[in-house]
Amino acid sequence: ARLGVLVSGSGSNLQALLDACARADYPAEVACVVSNVPTAYALERARRAGVPAVALDSKAAGSRGAFEQALVETLRAANVEWVCLAGFMRLLSADFLAGFPGRVLNIHPSLLPSFPGLHAQRQALERGVKVTGCTVHFVDAGTDTGPIVAQAAVPVLPDDDEASLSARILSEEHKLFPLAVRLAVTGKVSLEGMRTRVAAPPA
Ligand code: GRF
Repeated sequence: ARLGVLVSGSGSNLQALLDACARADYPAEVACVVSNVPTAYALERARRAGVPAVALDSKAAGSRGAFEQALVETLRAANVEWVCLAGFMRLLSADFLAGFPGRVLNIHPSLLPSFPGLHAQRQALERGVKVTGCTVHFVDAGTDTGPIVAQAAVPVLPDDDEASLSARILSEEHKLFPLAVRLAVTGKVSLEGMRTRVAAPPA
């Protein structure tokens, strides 16, 4: 399967996907990387891996419609089948999502549906939960609301701060995103209407 990975920042989750895709038995390849932030380090990671890296400045685009139009054209030109949001900090419209039905995945640093939106790790600390983690989910037009593909849990330790908790979650993200992409592109987990469908194991 051909992946388009959308990024806004450091791109460590992109790196995890690039590393997974480099393995011969992995059922996907990164066809292009698009950042809405031209200075994102993720673009450098893509170039180093020999993957087309495109900066589409969402601020310069003027409107969300214009930005998404350019985004769709870029992804279509690279024959992208699946879209992976890896630290991509923009919401996508229902119009955009309709172009890749059931084929847009996001990673979020909490056990959804707890703590959607920004600063999920800080929200978890402030609420006092003792277990948090990360989630890969199908993207719908809400913020971190779509049906779930895979999750991993981590403990919240008594002396954690936002940095230490974020680091513990991030190392799980790097395992979870490649796993979830494999489940999705091989059809083991799919989106059926508004629900997650898990394929029956082979008899
Ligand atoms: C990750 O924690 C991701 O879950 C969140 O933003 C962070 C991106 O990190 N949405 P990176 O750019 O993949 O290093």
